[in-house]
Amino acid sequence: MPMALIELHNLQKTYRVYHKKEGLRASIKGLFKRTYKEVQAVKGIDLQVEQGEFVAFLGPNGAGKTTTLKLLSGVIHPTSGTATVMGHTPWHRENDYRRRFALVMGQKNQLWWDLPAQESFRLHQQIYGIEPEAFQQTHDELTDLLGLRDLLSQPVRELSLGERMKMELTAALLHNPEVLFLDEPTIGLDVVAQHNIQQFLKYYQEKRKITILLTSHYMKDVAALCKRVVIIANGQIQYDGSLSGIIDETTNRKLVTLQFADPISDSLLSSLQRFGTLVHLEEPRVTLGVTRDDVPAMLTSILDAHDIDDLIVEEPPLEEVIAEVFARVAETSSTQRDEDGVA
Ligand SMILES: Nc1ncnc2c1ncn2[C@@H]1O[C@H](COP(=O)(O)OP(=O)(O)O)[C@@H](O)[C@H]1O
Ligand SMILES: [Mg+2]
Repeated sequence: MPMALIELHNLQKTYRVYHKKEGLRASIKGLFKRTYKEVQAVKGIDLQVEQGEFVAFLGPNGAGKTTTLKLLSGVIHPTSGTATVMGHTPWHRENDYRRRFALVMGQKNQLWWDLPAQESFRLHQQIYGIEPEAFQQTHDELTDLLGLRDLLSQPVRELSLGERMKMELTAALLHNPEVLFLDEPTIGLDVVAQHNIQQFLKYYQEKRKITILLTSHYMKDVAALCKRVVIIANGQIQYDGSLSGIIDETTNRKLVTLQFADPISDSLLSSLQRFGTLVHLEEPRVTLGVTRDDVPAMLTSILDAHDIDDLIVEEPPLEEVIAEVFARVAETSSTQRDEDGVA
């Protein structure tokens, strides 16, 4: 069987953290005998990603997303299980592997803070042994695409968060990696900067056909970029499939917005509420959450009796759908704990 570009089999990571006890006596005791607590961050992940896929990795805080990306980048070793990326085992840290992937973390600066980005880029060129011509070409392409030309000689600490993230991306892509791990690349950015980075990633991925694993809190990133979504919670994969699939699977609700020609009377409003729940009312416009199967009957009945200026039927916002998935996962895992008697 041919191997996928990225393959994870029963990958597990348990952190061992020093458990500090309260009180002086405990502290003194702790000097001699440390107690440890185990945190199971990743509890057996199986995943296969094909060349050229752009996969979103979603999950609540503490789900194990960053840990998984760190494992795949060879920053940390797993407790058990296997992973290969382009045939390499990441934590063996082979030079051949280092040249073929990149990791960008939104919450971690990889560039020299006090130096112009230009200098960090040169350093990358040295470290990765990039030929001068190839370096110049990639460098110019990236800095043009990201609109960074005029900022290259400014110390990184003087740049805005968005500009800094663009520099981080440039640095990461200078050696033409085939696989890119992005951990919250748009965290903390304003809407415009987020959008610019999305556009860049979309363009670059389509052009180069590189393989990207992205974690993000922003559903706009995900909707704009990824067809495939992997939801991870409690260190395990809860869903792996298409974005539209989760929406279908999670909610059978549609949002129906009606703009009436005339003001909405109380009796109309209450008859509307027989079909669904009121989400928003802004005269003469009303939005209702309606069960998918009830939408046709509702529309027939309303259109028969009233003048409508506008009508929109849409899916609930992705944020809402994902929040629902997370809530469901939290619920099942807490019942599991109860059943296990650990509570
Ligand atoms: N270096 C570490 N030492 C101990 N525990 C850690 C460490 N890094 C992460 N964890 C714990 O592992 C779990 C998963 O964390 P993480 O992978 O960062 O989640 P996510 O990125 O999905 O928010 C959390 O409970 C977190 O507190
Ligand atoms: Mg994280």
